[in-house]
Amino acid sequence: PKVTYVATAGDERAVDATAGESVMVAAVKNGVPGIIAECGGNASCATCHVWVREEFLALVGEPGDIEEDLLDMAVSERRDGSRLSCQIPVTPELDGLTVDIPPVQP
Ligand code: FES
Repeated sequence: PKVTYVATAGDERAVDATAGESVMVAAVKNGVPGIIAECGGNASCATCHVWVREEFLALVGEPGDIEEDLLDMAVSERRDGSRLSCQIPVTPELDGLTVDIPPVQP
C-alpha cells in the first residue's frame, strides 16, 4: 500500500509500505524527514506524531489510551487527526493514506 507523507513546506513523499509494518516504520525505512521515532515504536516518545488527513480518519481509527495521553501531553499541536504513526499498522485498506508531518516534533 502507498502512504504519502506531506511536510509543512508542501513536499510530498509517497512510499511503498508493507502491510503489517507501522506508518512510522515505513517512513523511517524510506528516509522520510520529520518522523524521528526516538523510542523505536513503543508509544513513549511522541516524535512520530502525524496528522492523519480527514478522509482517512475513520479507517485509521481512534488512538489507544497510552497514545491518547501522550498526544495530550507531548505534541506541539494536537488536532483531530493527531496520531502516533508507530501505532498505525499499514493495511491494504489504507492504500493511499496521506498524513501531514508537523513542523516540530516533541
Ligand atoms: Fe515513539 Fe511512536 S516512535 S511514540
